[in-house]
Amino acid sequence: MKALVLTAIKKLKEKDVPTPSPKDDEVLIQTAYAGICGTDRELYNGLPGSAQANPPIILGHENSGIVKEVGKNVTSVKPGDRVTVDPNIYCGQCYYCRTSRPELCEHLSAVGVTRDGGFAEYFTAPAKVVYPISDSLSLKAAAVTEPLSCALHGVNLLKLHPYQKALVIGDGFMGELFVQTLMAMGVHQVDLAGISEEKLKLNHDHFGVKTFNTAQGDKVPENSYDIVVEAVGNPATQEEAIRSTRRGAQVLMFGVANPNSHFSINSYEIYQKQLTIQGSFINPYCFEDAIGLLESGKVDVLPLISHELKLGEVEEFTSGKLKDVSKAVVEVNDLK
Ligand SMILES: NC(=O)c1ccc[n+]([C@@H]2O[C@H](COP(=O)([O-])OP(=O)(O)OC[C@H]3O[C@@H](n4cnc5c(N)ncnc54)[C@H](O)[C@@H]3O)[C@@H](O)[C@H]2O)c1
Ligand SMILES: [Zn+2]
Ligand SMILES: [Zn+2]
Repeated sequence: MKALVLTAIKKLKEKDVPTPSPKDDEVLIQTAYAGICGTDRELYNGLPGSAQANPPIILGHENSGIVKEVGKNVTSVKPGDRVTVDPNIYCGQCYYCRTSRPELCEHLSAVGVTRDGGFAEYFTAPAKVVYPISDSLSLKAAAVTEPLSCALHGVNLLKLHPYQKALVIGDGFMGELFVQTLMAMGVHQVDLAGISEEKLKLNHDHFGVKTFNTAQGDKVPENSYDIVVEAVGNPATQEEAIRSTRRGAQVLMFGVANPNSHFSINSYEIYQKQLTIQGSFINPYCFEDAIGLLESGKVDVLPLISHELKLGEVEEFTSGKLKDVSKAVVEVNDLK
C-alpha cells in the first residue's frame, strides 16, 4: 500500500509498505480522510504531541474510513462499516485509568503518534477506539471528530448554564469548534476574538457570532464573561482571558503554551471574582457525543475546512510552507 512515512525528524517520504493485518482485537480500515493539525507539525519537528512519535512511523491521528477486515474477537464493527477512529488508547491499569481519568494515563498510546496512523491507504486500530458513523455523515466531516472531541472534553469540564455569556479567544479551527460546541451545549451567547478578518467574517456571517478583531484594534470587553476559552496558548491571550472574566467565571486554558512560558495573574482577582481556571488534555470518551453533534448538524465543520490535500502535499503543511490554512484534511482514498 501507499504510505507517507516519517522516516526521520523533518523527513516525510511516500513509500510502498506492506498492508498491515489486524490482530484479534483490531480492525483494518481503508482510510478515507486524515485531518492534519498543529500536532503533526510538532511531531514532524521532533517535538512531542500527546505522546512522543519515534520514526519510522506513519502519522495521521484524525481519521475516517471504511472497515476492510476485523480480527476474530471484534464484534462492534464489520467490513463495510463507515467509521471514525479515536486515536487515544488508554492502558486501563494505571492510577489515572483506575480513577476514571484515562486522559491522564501514564501509558498513553495513540494511532498516528505512537503507532501507524491514517497517512496511508490502510491502518489498524483496536476495535475499542473505532466508532461507526451513520450514512448521513460525510467521511470528510467525520475526519475531524477527534478535534471536536477535544473541544467537548474541555466543555465537559465546565459547569454550563444557558444564562452564561461565553468568549472564545483564538480564531483557529479549535476556537471555531468551541464556538459551535458551546452554543450546541446551550450557552446562549458565544463571542469570538481573533486576528483573522476572513475567519471572523465567516463565523459572523455563517454562524451569527459577535466577533472582535484584536489585530485591528477591537478591545475585548473586560469583566464581562461567565465562560472564557483560551485557544491560542500565548501569555498575552491568557492574560486577556482572565481580564475578560466577570465574577464567578470559569476559564478554560485550552491553548498549548510553549513549555517555558508563563503568564502573570493577579491572585487577588482569583479570590475576589471566585474564578475557576481549568486545564484540558485530549478527549476521553467524547467520540459518541462528537459524532452526535456532527450527525445532528449542531456542529457544522465543512465550512471551516479550507484545504483538501493529497498525501504528497502533507509536508508543505508540516514544514510551514503552506500558509493561511484554516483546517486541512488529506484525501487518502476516494471513498464516498
Ligand atoms: N488541550 C487540548 O487537548 C488541545 C487539543 C487541540 C489543540 N490544542 C491547542 O489549541 C490551540 C488552538 O488550536 P488550533 O488548531 O486552532 O491552532 P491554530 O494554530 O490553527 O490556531 C491558533 C489561532 O489563534 C489565532 N490567534 C493568534 N494570536 C491571537 C490573538 N492574539 N488573539 C486571538 N487569536 C489569536 C490565530 O489566528 C490562529 O488561527 C493550540 O494552542 C493547540 O495546540 C489543545
Ligand atoms: Zn489533531
Ligand atoms: Zn492508564
